[in-house]
Amino acid sequence: MKPVKPVKRVAVTGAAGQIAYSLLFRVARGDLLGDDQPVILQLLELPQALDALRGVVMELEDCAFPLLQSVEISDDPRVAFRDVDYALLVGSRPRTKGMERRDLLAANAAIFRTQGQALNDVASRDVKVLVVGNPANTNALITRRFAPELPADAITAMIRLDHNRAVSKLAARCGVPVASVNRMVVWGNHSPTMYPDYRYAQIGQDSARALLADERWNRDVFIPEVARRGTAIIEARGASSAASAANAAIDQMRDWVYGSAGQWVSMSVPSDGSYGIPEGLMFGVPVICRNGAFERVTGLEIDALSRERIDASVRELMEEADAVDALFSAGAR
Ligand code: NAD
Ligand code: LMR
Repeated sequence: MKPVKPVKRVAVTGAAGQIAYSLLFRVARGDLLGDDQPVILQLLELPQALDALRGVVMELEDCAFPLLQSVEISDDPRVAFRDVDYALLVGSRPRTKGMERRDLLAANAAIFRTQGQALNDVASRDVKVLVVGNPANTNALITRRFAPELPADAITAMIRLDHNRAVSKLAARCGVPVASVNRMVVWGNHSPTMYPDYRYAQIGQDSARALLADERWNRDVFIPEVARRGTAIIEARGASSAASAANAAIDQMRDWVYGSAGQWVSMSVPSDGSYGIPEGLMFGVPVICRNGAFERVTGLEIDALSRERIDASVRELMEEADAVDALFSAGAR
């Protein structure tokens, strides 16, 4: 038997929602932090969803997970985030048919301001925060803005679902197992402007571009289908992706905590100004995770198509950042 570690506190918001219905059970059974890491779940919901959340807690209890020490629920972020080591910010309103993410900006700005302030005040000083709720990049920007006492790289947004989608699609096209694909990159916003980029991808020891010299497939199939996959799922299911989103949240946070074993993974992190991405913007970039931190992969060549795609996400995120500035300065008057 492995030695038992000191307990870790994991906050999940939107805990009565669809993504959480997959995520909570996987965290409780050890998929996030490992099978020797006891956890306390600290769950945040809106007051009107607390009854439903009590039902989810009953189900968690009924699983008799050995690692799950206790579950606490609250509608107050200052309670739910107290001393947390990890925070998965899932709660927000999901996009429904016909809506674009920017429509959700104003509704979500207030949520992530309050939650950023609460994390700033009561979370562990080493907390790792992953924003999943859309518009994820801008929600993470807001959270960071209102949590100035946390380290600059403590807050990231999820682009791992897009990364996983890109890996899966490339592997299928090349007829290889997903595990043989490394160095995939998804740049930018978690929105249709994102740029899935396999120029540097390797399949085993080989370059994917050498194996698959099909620029038309890249431009006309790979990029648009990865970028629009979330919309395709909403159209097919009538609801946004849930189990795959929970899986991606676990992948991104687990790699951040335990390392990515030398693999490149995509994370939306505060830009350091490289690749012409304005400093501070929450932007999907390639990173390697080790020792509980992420290191940005630098020095990649940006060709004309890449420049055009990256700039489209920069423009979109700058517009969202400006809209947020306007919202908050209007509120301050
Ligand atoms: P859902 O509607 O099933 O659940 C959301 C839950 O959040 C609801 O139970 C709601 O009561 C709760 N909530 C709303 N405001 C809250 C607040 N202020 N504090 C605490 N809880 C609050 O939605 P879902 O399917 O679980 O999706 C959640 C979010 O994740 C959506 O914004 C969705 O668009 C987004 N999403 C992101 C990705 C990604 O890759 N980043 C992928 C899929 C979905
Ligand atoms: C996804 O990529 O599946 C979701 O982010 C889609 C959405 O807008 O909820």
